[in-house]
Amino acid sequence: MLTPEERAEIEAEFSNYPDKKATCIDAMKIVQKHRGWVSDEALHDVGELLDMSATELDGVASFYNLIFRQPVGRHVIYVCDSVSCWIMGYERIRQLLSEHLSVELGETTPDQRFTFLPIVCLGACDHAPAMMIDDDTHLDLEPGKIEPILDRYK
Ligand code: FES
Repeated sequence: MLTPEERAEIEAEFSNYPDKKATCIDAMKIVQKHRGWVSDEALHDVGELLDMSATELDGVASFYNLIFRQPVGRHVIYVCDSVSCWIMGYERIRQLLSEHLSVELGETTPDQRFTFLPIVCLGACDHAPAMMIDDDTHLDLEPGKIEPILDRYK
């Protein structure tokens, strides 16, 4: 069941769009902000509010890779694997992150501190290789920068 706060925040989005179905990404992001991810139950509840099926919402969520359909860690690392970052050293950065975190892409650390995910171009190709942690973008990555950056996220 959506909380009164979640419902109020989603309904506040309705006035920004001609059709309340168009708020679906915002609605799922609101749920995710409160719960950390969007469960099947939450998807069903959002669907009821927006007159959409859970299947329709799941289809949207699967195209929008910032909606989590399973639990994630306290911080989410998105390492860019698109062409500029690939050319500029993505593989070394990915490898170092994997070593520091002891997880592979798609996994969450056992202490639930980090989830490690790939992402398409972050729009910072002139500062490749790049990654995001939560809402922070980290640019011009070099091996020596990885550990100090990770240390900022507890
Ligand atoms: S390719 Fe990585 S930021 Fe564009």
